[in-house]
Order: sequence, then structure tokens, then C-alpha cells
Amino acid sequence: MHSPLFEQIYAECSKLEQYLEEARQFCDLGKVADYIPELTHANCSMIGLSLLDTNNKNIQLGEYSIPFTLQSISKVLTLILALMDHGEDVVFEYVGMEPTGDVYNSMLKLELVPPGKPFNPLINAGAIVITSLIKGDTPALKYERISNFVKELCGRTNISYNEKVYASEKLTADRNRSLAYFLKDVGVLKGNVDEHLDVYFKQCAIEVTCHDLSRIGMLLANQGVDPITKKEIFPARYAQIASTFMVTCGMYNESGEFAIQVGFPAKSGVSGGIIGFVPHQFGIGVIGPALNDKGNSIGGLHLLKQISKQFKLSIF
Ligand code: DON
Repeated sequence: MHSPLFEQIYAECSKLEQYLEEARQFCDLGKVADYIPELTHANCSMIGLSLLDTNNKNIQLGEYSIPFTLQSISKVLTLILALMDHGEDVVFEYVGMEPTGDVYNSMLKLELVPPGKPFNPLINAGAIVITSLIKGDTPALKYERISNFVKELCGRTNISYNEKVYASEKLTADRNRSLAYFLKDVGVLKGNVDEHLDVYFKQCAIEVTCHDLSRIGMLLANQGVDPITKKEIFPARYAQIASTFMVTCGMYNESGEFAIQVGFPAKSGVSGGIIGFVPHQFGIGVIGPALNDKGNSIGGLHLLKQISKQFKLSIF
């Protein structure tokens, strides 16, 4: 389908270049994530952007081709896969539907509301439970299914996880380990905690580019259907559920401000990636490893704010 909005952005691409260079200045105000030591090697002043519309028309700027790890962006993808594996009734027995307003790795609310069910699938506690639900008789088979799903979403087969980032997180993940053992204690997480965490660390370490994120965003924008092949990659209902969580919880305790300043579904990761999309129009992928104090890309946020304001992209 022809998108006049995308054509307008395409025609005014020089504005995007200007916003990208402005966003680069903001990177100095942020800091790369250091609780996963391997992430500190990222180039702090890197900014990349990719937009992909449902006609396969692309805009790519800055360091758009540099690979980075999915981190929390993977949570949206495993949520969709768990929904495809079990349906929504089962999935929502394990995780709730409400934002927390807390940081992503907080354990605060787990004890506040019995029986310790994580508030939503995008905080770490909820995402670890979602990973445990992915079908597969062994951790290796679970990871293989996640990896195959990511390959299908990205439309390419040469996708793998970054061994160093995976090992680095595994060595230092005391917070996630404590969340997971708490969840096991209250009976929400079943089975072998270390095996579930191992799959979770691998999914977080899967490497993608801005183009990959814009393609996944485009599929969400198109309700799960590949517009070129017409194949349904995931059901429209699950696109709707994932999109709603992206709006309410995608930027953690900055989701409200993001909804007001940018106004479309998005999800961030501590590697500095952000995936977003404008419904029925196009997907967006951004990288900018310098983060603000909420764990969101500081340059990426500036860039998305400017683009949304200029081209009136808010859905609200
Ligand atoms: O579990 C973690 O802490 C990381 N692997 C992912 C966290 C993350 O990306 C939060 N996003 N802003």
C-alpha cells in the first residue's frame, strides 16, 4: 500500500540527517550500560536510523549497519512467540498486563502483590517467565525456536547471538538470578532456573542491525503479515497485544513521557537500540548506545522526538 506519509519523510530526508547529527550531540550526556561489562565497548557517539515501509522502501542514515544486541527488545519477540505457543489465556496466567512505573530490573512490586506474578512481560521478571514458557524439550531447543523466529522476523538466516555479551551477562547477572529464584519460590517460574536464564541471556545477546529492527517494526505495523509475500508471520491479535505493551511499558518508567513526546509503540534495550513503528505505515530501528538514567538511548530518544514532531507521527 502506498504511504503518503512515508513519501513525505523520504522527500524531506535532509531533515532526518539534521536530527541525526543533533542527536549525536546528545550522546555526550549519556552513558553506555556497564552492568553487562561487555556492553561498555560500544561506541558512545554512534547513532543509526532505519525506516522501512510496507512497500519495502527504506531510509537508512548514520551507523545503521553496525550490529548490536537485542537486549530487552527481545522481550517483545518472545512474548509473541509464547502467545503463539500457548494462547493469551495461558500466557496471562503467568504475567500481568499493567505497567509498573519502576526500573526494568526492579523487584519492588513482585512482593507487593501476591502471588508474585510479574506485572507485565516487558520487565525483566516478566520476560524471564515468558522465556520459560517457550516450547522446546531442552534449553537448546527453546533457544533454537527463538532464534528461528527472529530469523523469520528479520527476513535473513545469518543471525546469531554475541558470545561475549552473552558470557558477560551470564557472569554478572546477580539481579536477574535473584528475580528468577524469587519467582521460582512463589511458583510462577517452573523448572530449572539456570536453564531458563541461560536461554534468556542468549535471546538478549542476539545481534541485529537498525534495518532488522525496522523490518520487525514494519511487520508489527502491518499486523504480523509480510506485505511482500503476504505470509502471516504472527497473528494480528498478538501484534495488537505486543503493540499495546510497547505503548504502556516499552520504555519502562519513561513510557508516559515517550507517549506524550513521541507517541507511537516502541521498545528499548540497554544496548541502545529502539524499535518502533507507525501503525499501517512503517517500522523504525534506532541505535545509540549512550543511555539516559532510565536505561533508554539518549540520542535515540532525541531523534525520535524530533522526527515525530516534524512529521506528526503520534497516534494519539
Ligand atoms: O536482563 C537484562 O538486564 C538485559 N539483558 C536486558 C535489559 C534491558 O535491555 C533493559 N532495557 N532498557
